Amino acid sequence: MTTTTLNTGLDATARDSVAAGLSKLLADTYAVYLKTHGYHWNVRGPNFSSLHALFMDQYTEMWAAIDSIAERIRSLGQLAPQGYGAFANLTAVKDGDPEKSAEDMVAELMRDQETIVATARAALPAAQAAGDEVTTSLLSDRLTAHEKHAWMLRATLGGK
Ligand SMILES: [Fe+2]
Repeated sequence: MTTTTLNTGLDATARDSVAAGLSKLLADTYAVYLKTHGYHWNVRGPNFSSLHALFMDQYTEMWAAIDSIAERIRSLGQLAPQGYGAFANLTAVKDGDPEKSAEDMVAELMRDQETIVATARAALPAAQAAGDEVTTSLLSDRLTAHEKHAWMLRATLGGK
């Protein structure tokens, strides 16, 4: 073992699979962050003020989270993906369309939040199997945040 070998009690194979799940979560979160910020700028109509503020709440929360996710990947001994090309390869979330109606923007972001929830939930078993409590806790926090974002967007559309 060299002086720089990582030794935190998690085996390398487990760390790699946990980091892979986190990398996908990072890419999804970054893509939805970027779309939500764009819709904050471009939303139009009688509900402008409340949607402009709701979108800001959500992109601000996601902006803070992406740093925590990336730094967890680094703590696991992997390099964090960076750049639009790397993120595009890891996420199925598409760019937003500034021409959309306010209601269509909200509906799209609601589905995007559900996509992130699914990605975070899919990453959980590897972290739990590895006994990686830190990542498990981070994923739990991300599930809490994205389920709440999805609820607020769904309620904005009149849904339960
Ligand atoms: Fe702004």
